[in-house]
Amino acid sequence: MLRTIRLTAVLLVLLLGGVWAFAWVTRAPEEGLADAFVNRLGQVFGGQGTMVSGGGVQLPQGMSLGGPFSLTDQSGKPVTERDYAGRWMLVYFGYSFCPDVCPTELGTMAAALDAMGPAGEAVVPAFISVDPQRDTPEHLADYVSRFHPRMQGLTGTPDQVAEAARRYRVYYAKVQRPEMTDYLMDHSSFIYLVGPDAKVRSLFRPEQTPEAIAAAVSAQIGRPGGAG
Ligand code: NI
Repeated sequence: MLRTIRLTAVLLVLLLGGVWAFAWVTRAPEEGLADAFVNRLGQVFGGQGTMVSGGGVQLPQGMSLGGPFSLTDQSGKPVTERDYAGRWMLVYFGYSFCPDVCPTELGTMAAALDAMGPAGEAVVPAFISVDPQRDTPEHLADYVSRFHPRMQGLTGTPDQVAEAARRYRVYYAKVQRPEMTDYLMDHSSFIYLVGPDAKVRSLFRPEQTPEAIAAAVSAQIGRPGGAG
């Protein structure tokens, strides 16, 4: 009996170690290792983990992401989740100095809204900066307008940004390389669909197409009770 337990424990450790290694190898360029690990764990354990359906990842039952935040919009006005209450949102965390992934994802988000046609007007696109040091409201105003006329650019104090990121389980960290004068931000990269109650309903991986996201968002919004 004891030997069986010991063997099971060893196998479990090996399995988790294997998933960790797999996550390390297969993670996206900007995907944090912790995020990658949770995602691969969901894939390995199937049903009760993250479930891919309709172009989006459904949150495991009982898992709650999103909720209250206190930030500043691109006009310099303090905003909280209550300012968007009753609205659907597509939210992306990143930083405007990001050389590649952020612009690509924000472009995808904007294209998804356009692909939804008139229904897309019910959805507020929002970019939340994880680099408040450089992403001032003025700077974000110029940046987000390049992607979508209605896109919100949210930033805040380092504490406010950290709190918002914590609620969405967004990983981010400053990366300073000796050969570079400016720093980069390493950050997880998901597009979140947020319901009228400010809670995350589903999330989309970086490689999702605008059409897939548009279809998944339309399906969620059109669901009975979905209009909130
Ligand atoms: Ni980025």
